[in-house]
Amino acid sequence: MKPLTDGYKKAAAEKALDLVQDGMLVGLGSGTTARFFTEGLGRRVAKGMKVRGVPTSRATAELAAGLGIPILTELVGQIDLSVDGADEVDPALNLIKGRGGALSREKLVAAASKRFVVVVDDSKLVKQLGAGVLPVEVLPFLWRSTAERLTALGVSLVLRGGEEVPYVTDNGNLILDVTVDGGIKNPADFGFELKKVTGVVEHGLFVDMTDTVIVAGPEGPKAIGRPSGTARTA
Ligand code: A5P
Repeated sequence: MKPLTDGYKKAAAEKALDLVQDGMLVGLGSGTTARFFTEGLGRRVAKGMKVRGVPTSRATAELAAGLGIPILTELVGQIDLSVDGADEVDPALNLIKGRGGALSREKLVAAASKRFVVVVDDSKLVKQLGAGVLPVEVLPFLWRSTAERLTALGVSLVLRGGEEVPYVTDNGNLILDVTVDGGIKNPADFGFELKKVTGVVEHGLFVDMTDTVIVAGPEGPKAIGRPSGTARTA
């Protein structure tokens, strides 16, 4: 089913391209879906559109530079629009991100954005977050102690890549992939609990950050706004 899923990812990413206007500062996500968006933006830049990008990973920075998209890695003020993928999306548009390992920079870029748009294929929609793993970025120093403190919250976890060749993030940190039995019932509370653990740099729960999700499936891409009456708070 991979080619079909790739087609949906591309369809969602291309719909997000319609939101880009000349002169915008655009946050560029990481992962396979966001890649379709950056590639599309590169085609627009090649045709004369003037935009600048803020990349969420080294891989995206290299991709964007290769496509001729001017890159900023420092920022004063806000990003006009950011577009990124997600691993899971719940009905309140809360997310799990970070299976690609870029969650900390992705969250910084989303938080700095006037509008944060998530592009996914329909397999990413879930009723409750936590069906898969929740990535947590931790400092390498005394990471086993950090892992013990996390485990004390009642979760299980594995070091991404394993102890012999651990996965290292763009920030020089490690990723612990956390499994929550029964799923994450209250993403906001659980996110606060994780953030309080010394050694945790960031976690992949994006709560109240999303403005719009563009989801694509067999019926084409469609945009989902925030549930009525709810405002973005993060
Ligand atoms: C990268 O760290 C992630 O947050 C990705 O945005 C997420 O894993 C979605 O990736 P795909 O678009 O490749 O499914």
